[in-house]
Amino acid sequence: MDETAIFKISYGLFFVSTSFEGRKNACVVNTVAQVTQEPLRVSLCMLKTGLTHEMIQKSGHFCVSVIGRDSSLEEIAHFGQLSGRDTDKFAGRTIQPDCNGDPVLAEGCIAALSCKVIQEVDLGTHTLFIADLADAKNLSDALPMTYADYRILKSGGRLDQPETKQGQKWQCSICHYVYDGDIPFEDLPDDYICPICKKPKSAFVKV
Ligand SMILES: Cc1cc2nc3c(=O)[nH]c(=O)nc-3n(C[C@H](O)[C@H](O)[C@H](O)COP(=O)(O)O)c2cc1C
Repeated sequence: MDETAIFKISYGLFFVSTSFEGRKNACVVNTVAQVTQEPLRVSLCMLKTGLTHEMIQKSGHFCVSVIGRDSSLEEIAHFGQLSGRDTDKFAGRTIQPDCNGDPVLAEGCIAALSCKVIQEVDLGTHTLFIADLADAKNLSDALPMTYADYRILKSGGRLDQPETKQGQKWQCSICHYVYDGDIPFEDLPDDYICPICKKPKSAFVKV
């Protein structure tokens, strides 16, 4: 089995927040997915050791805030690498409560989905929460950040790159990576693949 094939699954990137007995917390996740349309239902997979996991189990609700493409790596690291057990992650930030009282960051989020847990599946290290939407709001028309965008930023790349040395941009239509090599894109070998998502040369479009 080639386990690297699993990296080709596409994900979004989200802040998941919750509140319980006056305490608020949030962390970064990439594992939110819509699972049914009627009713509007999502799944969320969370590591059991995190504070957000513990608080969602107690509160029975959470808010998924869709991270915008303009958000900074620092903000994602703040919510995705620190634990609310050691720090108040919302300190100094403007938040709005959703219909369940869960905090939504005023900046950087493009949609907020308020969710009520209806089922938990114990997956050993993780819990899969199944939840119904209690409310949903669009906050901005900006594009969402994908997990692939996040990996480009983490590896030092930029999402919106200036013109390449050849005076034109070729962009991977799957993960948005922009080719910026010295060899003109047309002259690259046919077996060239996107360094980020490994899709073939044919997945690139001129932008
Ligand atoms: C890009 C990214 C994706 C992540 N995805 C998940 C996820 O899907 N589920 C999860 O439980 N943790 C995920 N994490 C890790 C949590 O955000 C991290 O463990 C956080 O520190 C937990 O904080 P807490 O203890 O305040 O809940 C992710 C982190 C990053 C940076």
